[in-house]
Amino acid sequence: MKHYDNVTIFDHPLIQHKIAILRDEKTSMKEFRELIEEITTLMTFECLREDVPTTEREVKTPLETCTQRVVKDNAIAIVPILRAGLGMVNGVHVLFPSARVGHIGMYRNEETLEPCEYYCKLPDGIEDKLVMVVDPMLATGGSACDAITLLKKRGCKNIKFMAVIGAPEGVSRVAEAHPDVHVFVSTLDRCLNENGYILPGLGDAGDRLFGTK
Ligand code: PRP
Ligand code: URA
Repeated sequence: MKHYDNVTIFDHPLIQHKIAILRDEKTSMKEFRELIEEITTLMTFECLREDVPTTEREVKTPLETCTQRVVKDNAIAIVPILRAGLGMVNGVHVLFPSARVGHIGMYRNEETLEPCEYYCKLPDGIEDKLVMVVDPMLATGGSACDAITLLKKRGCKNIKFMAVIGAPEGVSRVAEAHPDVHVFVSTLDRCLNENGYILPGLGDAGDRLFGTK
């Protein structure tokens, strides 16, 4: 895949280890859910290293008073793409319990692979927040591109996109359509199959998270 300045692919051994278990078809629904959350937390830590909105606060230690950098209240919104993105919300909430959550519902038409939007509810004031769009799977990139376009139409200016597994096709599509959005994927897989599934991938993330199949 071509190099993009707005794409980060994690090659961290701890994340890779967890992805191996996640891919395994024998991994239980409970363990799958826990792993998606854990990987999301590790990714969030890295993804917000640079530009998480902060402010200064005075803190009195037992010895003296100092000024300490803290994360600004109310500065972050998490936007999962339903359904599978829901599995990543707690992974961000562990680090930012006060983050507001917006929901964008999209499913892929199984024949055309085009995303269809069926739900959207966003927190008030989202346009001024750092918005973290989350979805475990970035396949053709259609769902991510449409969700980001929708958020931009609602005035969002500072958007990051986080996926656990990306296909080269989808990563390139989002990176090119939205050069101002940083795309983070924890691992880059080989390609898509004829049904738009990521290879080797992990199957259908929504079904594995919620036990629907
Ligand atoms: C999956 C996944 C993404 C989308 C990725 O959702 O969670 O939202 O497919 O594919 P794309 O990059 O080709 O758009 P799906 O449509 O299966 O819906 P679900 O989460 O409700 O199962
Ligand atoms: N959605 C999934 O859940 N898995 C894929 O491999 C592609 C899209």
